[in-house]
Amino acid sequence: MKTFAHKFVWFDGKFVKDDEAKVSIMTHAIHYGTSVFEGLRGYWNSKNLNIFRLQDHIKRFRNSGRVYSISLRFTDKQIADAITELCKKNNVRESCYIRPFYFVGRYGINLHVTESSPTHAAVVMFPFGDLFNKNGISAGISSWRRIHDISTPPLAKMGGNYLNSILATQECKRNGYDEAILLDHLGNISEAPGENIFIIRDKKLLTPSSSSSALEGITKDSVIKIAKNLGYETVERDIPRTEIYFADEVFLTGTAAEITPIVSVDGKGVGDGKVGKITQKLQRTYSEITMGRNKRYSRWITPVY
Ligand SMILES: Cc1ncc(COP(=O)(O)O)c(C=O)c1O
Repeated sequence: MKTFAHKFVWFDGKFVKDDEAKVSIMTHAIHYGTSVFEGLRGYWNSKNLNIFRLQDHIKRFRNSGRVYSISLRFTDKQIADAITELCKKNNVRESCYIRPFYFVGRYGINLHVTESSPTHAAVVMFPFGDLFNKNGISAGISSWRRIHDISTPPLAKMGGNYLNSILATQECKRNGYDEAILLDHLGNISEAPGENIFIIRDKKLLTPSSSSSALEGITKDSVIKIAKNLGYETVERDIPRTEIYFADEVFLTGTAAEITPIVSVDGKGVGDGKVGKITQKLQRTYSEITMGRNKRYSRWITPVY
């Protein structure tokens, strides 16, 4: 795999070398997790680098900070330009992962974070291929419950939220699974540590809603729209744990995971234990779209060059 020298980062409005972007050890986010982040992908199709659903990611980026009154001191256009220009500056000509983030800077031990608290914003990127085996992974239900809106809002994509994801991931790896599935506070299926989840029963897609602590995933939204156009209905509803053992197909969605089939849950095979037909169709269409080869969805693509 070729790798670009991801030498430059964008930091507080400037393009600087990676090792020149420095913050104080008194940075509030290091002590209290007061950071907001996004994850996007750039897809290289041998002609251009296509950023997938750039505006939708920026919208969620800003909304997350609003929940905690953490200010993003750049306009949506400035963030979009920072991302596309950084790709150019690094001369990216292969698929990559893009990570914009902002966080509370030097603010002592003050927990009264307000819109006027100091913040920094940055964008980094690196070459990225498949996160998981696209031919199917194993999953185990975690004993850790997903964070909930009653205490730590999961819809805001905050750095601190991922402590919950880390616990579930550590447990699933200890138990020999590829990925964890978390239940919500009531015991219904919620999501994976960094992905949304779908199950398919009798050709109908089912996925937990945000009331089950599932992030408003951009890939999830894409899959619901693609599935509809392929003639499959999706129902967002509570999914009791047991239903996952009845599923014909199960898959995860996420920017990093794209569409990853789950072929076993808690050691029990899903359907016939192979990647399901509907999951395969969705994977094929998603890949065409991200590569910029499906005109119907070209509004989701921002070409860099
Ligand atoms: C907890 C969690 N759920 C779901 C997702 C999937 O979201 P998206 O499809 O927008 O990447 C992510 C990734 O951002 C995540 O971190």
